[in-house]
Amino acid sequence: MAVTAQHVESLFAGEGSGHDWWHIRRVWQNALQIGKKEQADLMVVQLGALLHDIADWKFHHGDEEAGPKAAQEWLRSHNAPQELINKVCQIVREVTFKGAGVDTTPSTLEGKVVQDADRLDAIGAIGIGRAFAYGGHKGREMYHPNQAPQLHASFEEYKKNQAPTLNHFYEKLFLLKDRINTVAGQEMAQERHQYMQQFVQQFLQEWHGPEEAPAAFHLETNHPQAGVKTA
Ligand code: ADP
Ligand code: NI
Repeated sequence: MAVTAQHVESLFAGEGSGHDWWHIRRVWQNALQIGKKEQADLMVVQLGALLHDIADWKFHHGDEEAGPKAAQEWLRSHNAPQELINKVCQIVREVTFKGAGVDTTPSTLEGKVVQDADRLDAIGAIGIGRAFAYGGHKGREMYHPNQAPQLHASFEEYKKNQAPTLNHFYEKLFLLKDRINTVAGQEMAQERHQYMQQFVQQFLQEWHGPEEAPAAFHLETNHPQAGVKTA
């Protein structure tokens, strides 16, 4: 484990778009905490967490198989048993959010644990920080009152999206609380979700002053589960 952690740390150190080593480290620690409560295989959970974003460093969201391939190469070079490699690669393949209307529930308990830990790091105070860091990295506006959020029905649509950062809260971050797989994860998500909603409410209040924010940005009119397809 330590050698994998060191390897990933050396790949990700100093990354500025929200995929830095500290993100991986937080996901690793949260996955371990959730995995213990859920009685998951902690070896698989930890390796999955450490390697879950490995392809983003190299390929920047291109080939969807790039992550599993990179994870496999690394584990093979350390003579990990094939069965373990398969389990970890499956997690790397299944963990990503692909749009509001796309169901991406992992097929194993260990995958669910890692996905929960990754999603917890996208919400709350850290989630807010990461969203604006990502938006800045991509040169996005913070907010545009006339650009309404969209619930994307496919991964292609979701990936093409260039909307202002505040839309991302409606298109992904507010939806995550109800898509956490494990009970332990759900407990951790609650407070982070509320904190993020408060932040967005305050942001819109400061922006619009006494006027009302556009209806598309009203929190109570956004039903998170609307239009979700099960794949
Ligand atoms: P993951 O860690 O699951 O691979 P992503 O690669 O989708 O997540 O995103 C990494 C971080 O960047 C997350 O905190 C996510 O919310 C944020 N992010 C992704 N897309 C956007 C966007 N369009 N606007 C703002 N933040 C984004
Ligand atoms: Ni991640």
